[in-house]
Amino acid sequence: MKKKKLKQITRVLIILVIMPSFAFCNNSKQQKRSSNQFTITESFEPDIDISLTATPAELQLFEGEKTAIYTYRSELIKGDSSSLQQIPNSYLGPIIRVKPNQKIRIRYNNELPDESIIHWHGLHVPEEMDGHPRYVINNGEQFVYEFVVNNRPGTYWFHPHPHGITGFQVYKGLAGMFIIEDNQSNLPSEKYEVPLVIQDRRFDSSNQLVYLENNMMDMMVGFLGNEILINGKSNSSMEVDKATYRFRVLNGSNSRIYKLAWNDGVNLTVIGKDGGLLSKPTEKPYIILGPGERIDVWRDFSNINSGEQIALNSLAFNSGTSMGMMGSGRGMGSGMMRGRGRGNMQRDNNQSDSYIDNGDALTLYNFIVSDKQGEVVSLTTEFEPIEQFDLSESVNQDSPRQFNFHFERMQWLINGKTFEMNEVADWEKVKLNTTEVWEFINGGSGGGMMGNMMSMPHPVHIHGLQFQIIERDVSEVPAAVWNSMKDGFIDEGWQDTFLLLPNMRVKVALRFEDFTGIFLYHCHNLEHEDMGMMRNYEVVE
Ligand code: C2O
Ligand code: CU
Repeated sequence: MKKKKLKQITRVLIILVIMPSFAFCNNSKQQKRSSNQFTITESFEPDIDISLTATPAELQLFEGEKTAIYTYRSELIKGDSSSLQQIPNSYLGPIIRVKPNQKIRIRYNNELPDESIIHWHGLHVPEEMDGHPRYVINNGEQFVYEFVVNNRPGTYWFHPHPHGITGFQVYKGLAGMFIIEDNQSNLPSEKYEVPLVIQDRRFDSSNQLVYLENNMMDMMVGFLGNEILINGKSNSSMEVDKATYRFRVLNGSNSRIYKLAWNDGVNLTVIGKDGGLLSKPTEKPYIILGPGERIDVWRDFSNINSGEQIALNSLAFNSGTSMGMMGSGRGMGSGMMRGRGRGNMQRDNNQSDSYIDNGDALTLYNFIVSDKQGEVVSLTTEFEPIEQFDLSESVNQDSPRQFNFHFERMQWLINGKTFEMNEVADWEKVKLNTTEVWEFINGGSGGGMMGNMMSMPHPVHIHGLQFQIIERDVSEVPAAVWNSMKDGFIDEGWQDTFLLLPNMRVKVALRFEDFTGIFLYHCHNLEHEDMGMMRNYEVVE
């Protein structure tokens, strides 16, 4: 009992300490410029011209009351009709499908009550086109994106990026896939190429989305829901042919990490990561997928009996999350959750504030094998080779820039700093046309008032480019954490987001090309990002 009281006092204290920094956030928001509108360039002749409107809407997600959401409504103004693919009965935005080197125009209209801007996660575009929060537009305004697709074919995505409310807007439904098509005739395509956007949500008894509810604890850890939605829908299965499939999997959750595995013991065959196909397929017993990350998975259902169900699950793991004394508030809901069936249409108020812990086992999606014989393509053993960065050409191979993702002064920070809209520190300036090595360190709370009790994985995302992971130092990662995840990382290929576990150090090689300007790097736990675990880096001539 004594313990409980102490915990309550601690929580109150913590909330008091945090409050000032949130008040500060609100002030800085009011100072933003209101007119950021980019308009159409007449001389730019797009291959694909799309209008995307972010708007509040209502969706019949469950029986009974409709759910209030935000969504991207889209319209194809010019281009092949396949460039815009709608997902019926989903809050998710359209799937935008383009080809390498195409010229894209997107007329983004903001009909939300709040400011917003779109970020093209993973794309290599000029800074004004990247959706930095300083380019936010208000309700009724338009921002016209015009850029050339110069990434490799792969699965990218887009989502809002207004500072402080990205988590909320993505949660309300704003996100979509951006696929750059490859012409691999040897991979499953058309109906055998299926997007799987995995997200978790909470709903109240009248089917409305529940977000944070001003709970500081949730904010510190990141939002965790108690229901899984796939492709913005709550029905958790699809029928598949006896055929080979390509699944483009995106973890579009605010903070949840998945340990993906088939339930029939078959290894996951991974053919691609964030920045496109790997040089060859790789087999894993499971895949760890942090928020923002994508994988391309190949699967053969042709030898499965009709009527059988194959599930894609998330296995249990130890995320290494420890909130020290703050941890007291968590874990209570978790116990209540376990007895509950998913997809349950009947909700009660108790359930709206309970969550499933990061690392608890989950059934994500069921594939029901029909009796239809479909197309079977055999798995290619090799794709195009991936050219590795020559580290001897990097400017700092022996003294990488270091970025410590840590907790201090009741905040998640990077090298002791929080996000400032226009600030770039000296150690965040890089030169155009150079290759560098950056080292990311998950430093937890590293001493101080809370001891080393505040620790969590951080999904690290760098804007504007794709990089290569060159080293993952796990020597300091708690063994129980590492052992529960160690076989699930895809470190080969091109990356824009990777998971940095507690006390892990990861070295990446990156090259700054084509564009000067200010780009972001941040934690893709969207609540951490909104709280300021984000910084600018600048590419200078
Ligand atoms: Cu997907 Cu800066 O984000
Ligand atoms: Cu984080």
